[in-house]
Amino acid sequence: MPASLQEELVAAGLKHAWVHQAPRFGRAGEDGLVIFESGKGCLLTDITGREVFDGMSGAWVVNVGHGRTEIADAIGDQARRLAYASAFNFLTEPAIRLAEKLALIAPEPLERVFLCSGGAEAVEAALAMARQYYFNIGQRGRYKIISRRGSYHGSAFGGKSVSGLRHNLLQQRFAPLLEGCIQVAGPNTYRTEDDLDPRAYAIRCAREIERAILHEGPDSVAAVIGEPISASAGVQVPDREYWQIVRDVCTRHGILLILDEVLVGMGRTGKMFAFEHYGVVPDIVTLSKGIASGYAPIGAVVVSKTVAESFAGDNVFSHGYTYGSHPVASAAGLRNIEILEREELVGASATTGAYMHERLNGLAQRYRSIGDVRGLGMIAAIELVADRGSKTPFPVEAKMSQRLADCLLDEGIFLRVWDVIHVAPPLVATREDIDRMVDGIGRAIGRFERDIGFN
Ligand SMILES: Cc1ncc(COP(=O)(O)O)c(C=O)c1O
Repeated sequence: MPASLQEELVAAGLKHAWVHQAPRFGRAGEDGLVIFESGKGCLLTDITGREVFDGMSGAWVVNVGHGRTEIADAIGDQARRLAYASAFNFLTEPAIRLAEKLALIAPEPLERVFLCSGGAEAVEAALAMARQYYFNIGQRGRYKIISRRGSYHGSAFGGKSVSGLRHNLLQQRFAPLLEGCIQVAGPNTYRTEDDLDPRAYAIRCAREIERAILHEGPDSVAAVIGEPISASAGVQVPDREYWQIVRDVCTRHGILLILDEVLVGMGRTGKMFAFEHYGVVPDIVTLSKGIASGYAPIGAVVVSKTVAESFAGDNVFSHGYTYGSHPVASAAGLRNIEILEREELVGASATTGAYMHERLNGLAQRYRSIGDVRGLGMIAAIELVADRGSKTPFPVEAKMSQRLADCLLDEGIFLRVWDVIHVAPPLVATREDIDRMVDGIGRAIGRFERDIGFN
């Protein structure tokens, strides 16, 4: 792109566009706004021609990698044939086929699929479904939702109300949030309480859910919602028993278990669904990012037979979206899942992911600021600390997250740095790609340590 056009585009972006959840509407550092224009595999290219390794798959989204022309063709073919039909009256072939496909890959009794256009919409629909389910079956006092501190369930008001990530900030800025949302401790494996080991702490956290249910009164609780592996809480992979206990508690008290797989579903953790690591099946599962790998906006709520059947007759689900069951997004999803299966990318996520964790753990031997490396499959977190022994985080003045993000970008790597460094490359990443990424992460952490005089 000619330099004059680049400048004009940056100026227009800074003036009119809005980068979500970013300071000053966008990341307008010394280089101006970063604007990408193309991608291939794990690489993104910006308008200046600079290549950046997409170590985040965008935002845990682009599982099959960038530049898949066959998905673009599926989108184009469908848009040419039929771009839209009323979601409130009709279905289309791709929407039916995608619903069928998701129901087939999900374990029984999950069988009916509500298609929407993103994660927040999926969570919102799941919460509404849980509340209306109890209306449908005549248990009208059940409306409370239990979630975990540190969790993220999207930016709609239901999602905000059950999100535990910086919940006090959400309360301050958007209050009042939904009534009846109760949060309990999440099973953090690095920062446990009372010196418990991660397994014992996970069991305590699972039991805490039952205590909250008993405290509130089981007849007032509709659902427990959680991410099987919570990225927002810093990629927490709880002990297997955690979800088994939570599943059992929900079943015993007649409460629905909603597992939010918006981020970790569709192969990210080395299994198609993260809950498969735990030998449990939820009543409702939300999906989004990996369904179409970002080639089109799409989300889904996959629902058990029992829950779905309660919506028969007059109990129409009073919830719907204009872009629900969208044919073009569904065509993208179908082709994306075909690629996931044909190229065995879920298996690749497990094996390349294991290699990635080995390499990331190797960094912890070298850099003193690395307190913990954790994750599963192609999702990881690196937690940096000012002191390993006491696990003390860096003070705000160290500007860890901005500095590290800049160091990483200088190395040509995009990763999200919040309280931890998030790592989630496309599932198509090769060992060489992982080496390139991990070597760059090492150099960036080394520079960060030097910059703050850590050595
Ligand atoms: C677990 C989880 N749920 C819901 C959402 C919201 O999805 P979206 O941003 O597509 O609305 C996210 C987004 O990151 C998520 O990670």
